[in-house]
Amino acid sequence: MGIFDIFKKKDNNTTLFYDTEVHCHILPGIDDGSPDVATSVELVKEMKNLGIRRIITTSHVTESTFENTPETIQGAYKKLRSALDAEGIEMEIHTSAEYRMDEYFLNQIKTNKLLPFPEDFILIENSFFQPYWEIKELIFDLKMKGYTPILAHPERYVYYHKTPKIYKELYDYGCLFQVNFLSLSGYYYPQVKEMAWKMLNDGMVSFIGSDMHNIGHARHIKEYMKTREYRKLEEKAANILNNKIQF
Ligand SMILES: [Fe+2]
Repeated sequence: MGIFDIFKKKDNNTTLFYDTEVHCHILPGIDDGSPDVATSVELVKEMKNLGIRRIITTSHVTESTFENTPETIQGAYKKLRSALDAEGIEMEIHTSAEYRMDEYFLNQIKTNKLLPFPEDFILIENSFFQPYWEIKELIFDLKMKGYTPILAHPERYVYYHKTPKIYKELYDYGCLFQVNFLSLSGYYYPQVKEMAWKMLNDGMVSFIGSDMHNIGHARHIKEYMKTREYRKLEEKAANILNNKIQF
């Protein structure tokens, strides 16, 4: 038990065991997450209710579908911030992105248009249909530039399940893993849940994120927190780095 644990309120699982959200789509109107400011405010309220105190927003940056830039992301953030301020809702928010590994991303790197996490973590993702063919080279390049890549929801890339040694290889290459809370709680396919727990048990999970896109996700998380399995998760994930990020 750490020194700070004695100050932690024990309140029967009504709040999450970490207070920093590292993966969510709550900025209004710039990806497939929140469609408008009112929904974004609701999502922030839901997160507060779950015990989240700091949010890193990770809007999609994807070639053709969501070609966001620091400007589009900051613009959406400003709208949310003024709505939150108008309602007196306190929340610490840092804007970043979830970068699909594609040509558009390579271009954003080249032109210095990245919006990393605090401490220069950078959230990257594969397509759900196929892995990015030069992922190792890209991880290496990002590290050379001083970033620490975090692969978003590695457990959801089912094409990796046939060759699970790829996880160990990427991890050894210096890529950290962020597993989705929704995977651990069984929101997606059973095999995705199984892989998420395997990675957690193998000590390969550095971050847990909600990947929250809508209110339904928040409700699912809240329900899962009432289960006995959630207790196990809290125990197994005690060393995740979410709260350690310095804003
Ligand atoms: Fe996401």
